[in-house]
Amino acid sequence: MFSRREWLLSSAAFSGAAGYQAGGRDIVIASSNGLSACQRAMDILRSGGDTLEAVVEGVTLVELDPGDMSVGYGGLPNEEGVVELDACVMHGPTRRAGSVASLRNIKTPARVAKLVMEQTDHIMLAGEGALRFAKAYGFQEENLLTERARLAWLVWKKSLRDNRGHNNWGPGLDAPDGKTSASLRDAFPEVDEATWAWASEVARRPPTGTINCLALNSKGEISGVTTTSGLAWKIPGRVGDSPIIGAGLYVDQDVGAAGSTGRGEENIRVAGAHTIVENMRHGMEPREACIDALKRVARNYNGNREKLAKFDLSFYALRKDGQYGGASLWSGRKFAVNTGTGSRHEDAAHLLERKN
Ligand code: GLY
Repeated sequence: MFSRREWLLSSAAFSGAAGYQAGGRDIVIASSNGLSACQRAMDILRSGGDTLEAVVEGVTLVELDPGDMSVGYGGLPNEEGVVELDACVMHGPTRRAGSVASLRNIKTPARVAKLVMEQTDHIMLAGEGALRFAKAYGFQEENLLTERARLAWLVWKKSLRDNRGHNNWGPGLDAPDGKTSASLRDAFPEVDEATWAWASEVARRPPTGTINCLALNSKGEISGVTTTSGLAWKIPGRVGDSPIIGAGLYVDQDVGAAGSTGRGEENIRVAGAHTIVENMRHGMEPREACIDALKRVARNYNGNREKLAKFDLSFYALRKDGQYGGASLWSGRKFAVNTGTGSRHEDAAHLLERKN
């Protein structure tokens, strides 16, 4: 269980001045990888664009960036080396939602989710059906696996060993130089040290990065989007929290919006984004509402630190009055904010203090 000190620390972490922007202003917040997304979204709000258009075009920048390996093109693949993307959107003013899950070969799943919302009588399309829908609307099929992502996948694949230290993805018994069990590092002589350190880290600890982006405009309209390549090395077809309305994202025009990044399985079990919006409806401030959802996650493990240390989960919340906040299970996280004067990082609150 948590120590009393940790509960106090987490209370202190969210009881400080919460982010606040008086009503009547444009505000965009996002996960920490969303600085550019926030700026793009703010530019669209400033030119009179709709809040959903703003956040979707914001995260599209990140989906198209091969340098962000948690989202869209360049995302880390499933266990078969295939990139599968999840995304969802919610539009406050019209109270509509759209979602795609396990979408392959399309770089911009958030735009597809928006089309599902606008152009179908459904809310969620998955797998082959989602791909056919995207192609029907002119999206091009492309290979989403970058060379860097392929390398990381191959390192992970070759790192799996049976109890004799054997892996089929290496030279066999008949290898001419007898090197059947060369070290993993030796199998990648062309890879530089920095790339190797990164690839072996993601092979050991599969990441679940994602981007969530929420926007409020000066008319009080609010929308949100969450998009991801999901858990690296997942079983094909695994769907995380990002495309689940109520888990990875929830927007209620009367109250506000919330979204999530991190280990989706934990979030789905507490319907995090919906929980946070309901908490705000009943009077909690955004950070407090996020911390309350994280307490539910911790409760699912009876507060067992060893188990909780194996993952992280972050929530972001934006209330209709302009108050906003972010909180993570573990300390040390930040989130992105843009209130019209450029994007910046702010500290997220936390439930648990990481010791090292
Ligand atoms: N939050 C992203 C995922 O778990 O897929």
